Amino acid sequence: MHPLARSLPLLLGLLACCATAVVEPPDDAAAATLRAAYSQPPAAWPAATIDPGVAFVELGRAPAPTYPPANPWSKQKQALGHALFFDGRLSGTGQMACASCHDSNLGWSDGRPTSLGHGALALARNAPSILNSAHGRSFFWDGRAASLEDQALAVFENGREMATSGEALVAKLRSSRGYRAMFAAAFGDEEPTLPRALAALATFERAQASDGSSDFDRFLAGDRAALSDAQVRGLHLFRTKARCANCHHGPLLTDGGFHDLGLSYYGRKRQDLGRHAVTRDPADVGRFKTPSLRNVARTAPYMHNGLFDLPGIVNMYDAGMATLVPSPEQAQDPMFPTKSPLLQKLGLTAGEKKDLLAFLEALTERRRRVSAPQLPPLDDA
Ligand code: HEC
Ligand code: HEC
Repeated sequence: MHPLARSLPLLLGLLACCATAVVEPPDDAAAATLRAAYSQPPAAWPAATIDPGVAFVELGRAPAPTYPPANPWSKQKQALGHALFFDGRLSGTGQMACASCHDSNLGWSDGRPTSLGHGALALARNAPSILNSAHGRSFFWDGRAASLEDQALAVFENGREMATSGEALVAKLRSSRGYRAMFAAAFGDEEPTLPRALAALATFERAQASDGSSDFDRFLAGDRAALSDAQVRGLHLFRTKARCANCHHGPLLTDGGFHDLGLSYYGRKRQDLGRHAVTRDPADVGRFKTPSLRNVARTAPYMHNGLFDLPGIVNMYDAGMATLVPSPEQAQDPMFPTKSPLLQKLGLTAGEKKDLLAFLEALTERRRRVSAPQLPPLDDA
């Protein structure tokens, strides 16, 4: 027998051993114990690793949308908002719609690192999803809009986005018999005022909510086979060793707060001071809003600057994120950003990183395509 042939079984054995070590759970018994623990109601789950001072809320099933008393839901208002969201004719150049940058096929984002605005000018930031926006406490990466109604107004008036004005918008809507009929159905009065248009848009956005179809929601609803072992381990890591639940918690996996992950590029070309632009508080330099992680696998690329993919993000968290070091001139700079103390080196193994990614995938929802409705003609009133 050729010497190589004799050692072949050994070689194969080695390969098999190493392949199993990577693919299989390190310990089936441990996986079963973990699955049993997480098959209980969330209140009985293993304790989460949460730092003092963090107002932790347990993860949970996707909530139904809610509507503020000042702007209650109606089918007619949602239908009007649906038309407005998709109507590019309302923008300054007649081509840019909300749906141009918030596409249901791309998890209500646009798939670009940063959005392309009018004249193909790149905007400074990545387009966030509007999914579950009914539960948002503030809007934009820096939280500068307090409501969806205010948010929509800001976008219409932004020269790089809708590039129009309230008056121009209302004039276009008033010129349309179809739109006037839709305003009458939604508001009992056919006058298309700006506050009514914003109310309708916000109603359409609030209606875009998680539908309970993710593996995680189905697991929580009692289908204990909905999560793989890797996903159950990932859920546990997310709440414990990986420390994610310090900021990504509650049913939407966000605390609605602002944190500095060391991504402000302070003093450099890509500098973005985030929350500081709103509060002017030096402590807010580099802080950005914690995004919800529901359906996150659909909205690549990530972070306010759109520079990262999911494996890259997990690697960065594992390293405790980058720490900006002040130059000698910056030593006394009161604006110099301070990374969140909630970020630490995690010491995750390659397998644990995979498990975390598997859990993020478990938050993916069934594809729901929301397409443009039939838009009423303009200039026929
Ligand atoms: C040219 C692309 C573009 C267009 C058009 C656009 N958006 Fe956006 N949208 C963005 C970007 C980029 C952001 C993040 C900007 C920031 O944080 O400063 C954003 C943020 C938002 C947010 C905040 C989400 C959150 O969780 O903070 C909402 C809601 C939203 N847009 C709705 C709309 C509506 C409604 C319209 C139409 C009236 C619209 N957008 C038009 C790109 C666009
Ligand atoms: C200190 C609070 C904090 C902790 C801890 C934290 N995150 Fe985040 N996360 C944020 C903030 C804030 C952002 C947005 C930062 C930005 O864009 O500059 C973010 C962004 C993300 C994004 C990008 C989402 C998107 O739509 O762009 C993912 C994915 C993510 N976090 C996953 C995790 C995971 C996994 C962990 C645990 C390993 C974790 N986070 C721990 C606060 C936190």
